[in-house]
Amino acid sequence: MNIYTLIIWLYFTIFIIDSAPITSKSNSISLKKIAPKHSFKEVHQFYKDYFMLKYQNIYVTDQDKLASAEKRLSESENLTISKIIGYYGEITIGSQIFKTLFDLGSSDLWVPSQNCTQYSCSIHKRFNESLSKTFNRIGTPFSLRYEAGTVSGITGKDNVLVGEIESEGQIFGLVQEEDGDEFEPVEFDGIFGMGFDDLSGIKTTTPFSNMVKQKAVANPYFGIYLQRSNDTGHTGTLTLGDIDTTKFTGNLNYNNVSTIKGKNVYWILDVDDISINGNKLKFKNRQAIFDTGSNIVYMPEEDAKTYHKFINGSSLNNDRTYTVPCNATDQVAYIFGDVSYNIDQSDLVMGSDCYSSVQIGSIDNMWLIGDSFLRNVYSVYNIKNFTIGFAPISK
Ligand SMILES: *[C@@H]1O[C@H](CO)[C@@H](O)[C@H](O)[C@H]1NC(C)=O
Ligand SMILES: *[C@@H]1O[C@H](CO)[C@@H](O)[C@H](O)[C@H]1NC(C)=O
Ligand SMILES: *[C@@H]1O[C@H](CO)[C@@H](O)[C@H](O)[C@H]1NC(C)=O
Ligand SMILES: *[C@@H]1O[C@H](CO)[C@@H](O)[C@H](O)[C@H]1NC(C)=O
Ligand SMILES: *[C@@H]1O[C@H](CO)[C@@H](O)[C@H](O)[C@H]1NC(C)=O
Ligand SMILES: *[C@@H]1O[C@H](CO)[C@@H](O)[C@H](O)[C@H]1NC(C)=O
Ligand SMILES: *[C@@H]1O[C@H](CO)[C@@H](O)[C@H](O)[C@H]1NC(C)=O
Ligand SMILES: *[C@@H]1O[C@H](CO)[C@@H](O)[C@H](O)[C@H]1NC(C)=O
Repeated sequence: MNIYTLIIWLYFTIFIIDSAPITSKSNSISLKKIAPKHSFKEVHQFYKDYFMLKYQNIYVTDQDKLASAEKRLSESENLTISKIIGYYGEITIGSQIFKTLFDLGSSDLWVPSQNCTQYSCSIHKRFNESLSKTFNRIGTPFSLRYEAGTVSGITGKDNVLVGEIESEGQIFGLVQEEDGDEFEPVEFDGIFGMGFDDLSGIKTTTPFSNMVKQKAVANPYFGIYLQRSNDTGHTGTLTLGDIDTTKFTGNLNYNNVSTIKGKNVYWILDVDDISINGNKLKFKNRQAIFDTGSNIVYMPEEDAKTYHKFINGSSLNNDRTYTVPCNATDQVAYIFGDVSYNIDQSDLVMGSDCYSSVQIGSIDNMWLIGDSFLRNVYSVYNIKNFTIGFAPISK
């Protein structure tokens, strides 16, 4: 090796070392979808009832309707049917790893406590206080009601990691009792709420909100990408404080989140309209809650009827579900903030029985938008600007 090759070699070595990225913290984690264990028809009725209960405080005025939904759900408790859906991923609390469901429609973090000896807790990972040096017991009792059951326990404080992003001294729930056998067979141990702070049942700031306050993230938003796959293989990516630009094309367009009585609680947007095969359906003044815990889109009866009028060959069954032709090729687009987002044809049809991905819901005058829309966009949830941004996913 002569002196020149040595210099060139040194130059490249130093250049390469120098330009290597400063080991940046991983701010993304992968999400997995809970595998459906039952047919769409078997669980459809439950989902409708669940969402009515989940959003009852603000969107259900008919108390009789609510009471009958509760009755149906309690009667179904003994059916060993697993009804929970949604995306879950790994987090760390005080160095102990848990799988949590990432839920846009709630704002608390909880995991089972080692003190919970119930069967439903014993088959999941439980938090052992004595194994964490950073844990602090707070001890405020709490009880959180989910559509699938109630969990109760006391609060504690510890460091929570998602990827390598930390929420230091995060207050969370240690569950001592899980009421309702709904939590038994599920793939996740606890729930990680991604709604706004005002929705928190244990009256604390959410882990993501703390990450923003503690400047653990560069930006006050998180991005969600839900990969389209077959029924069982759906996966996704959650990115904290950043946007994964490899997942979408064009620009993100931002929409203002709607408040409830002046407060930001759920991820709600005004819907401008839907177009099908170029026809505007002329929906006006509609709002939608976004929830990755739903496979499909729920609309009030009249809106679902209008939608299916435009889907060639769709039909309303005796049990008030809609089916569509298995090979439906209609071009459906949802319009938010004057921007249209096309729906892939595979997201119009659910399962081999070809149920429509739009069904009649039970929440008053409110749509509930789930995966069958969200898989088509990269979505960005900003807790400071109170916006949701969408861009079409890269093909
Ligand atoms: C479920 O089964 C248990 C035990 O058999 C019984 O005590 C309970 O009443 C049943 N619940 C309903 C809602 O049928
Ligand atoms: C668990 O039990 C221990 C001993 O009774 C108690 O000190 C602790 O506070 C309990 N923790 C929770 C989360 O209930
Ligand atoms: C919690 O951890 C301590 C310390 O390692 C251990 O002695 C105890 O058995 C653990 N508790 C449970 C319920 O696993
Ligand atoms: C669905 O996708 C998963 C994960 O990609 C794969 O393991 C599985 O074999 C697929 N199933 C079918 C029926 O294609
Ligand atoms: C969204 O909110 C911002 C700030 O409050 C406001 O300036 C903007 O005009 C709003 N956009 C729309 C489309 O309402
Ligand atoms: C609806 O489907 C029928 C039968 O396949 C076809 O003849 C008709 O042209 C379709 N209409 C539209 C609007 O696509
Ligand atoms: C869908 O399938 C039906 C029944 O097999 C057939 O009549 C129709 O032409 C198909 N439509 C399209 C758009 O492929
Ligand atoms: C948030 O709002 C600020 C001020 O209104 C604006 O400059 C910024 O671009 C917004 N950020 C996003 C990601 O929309």
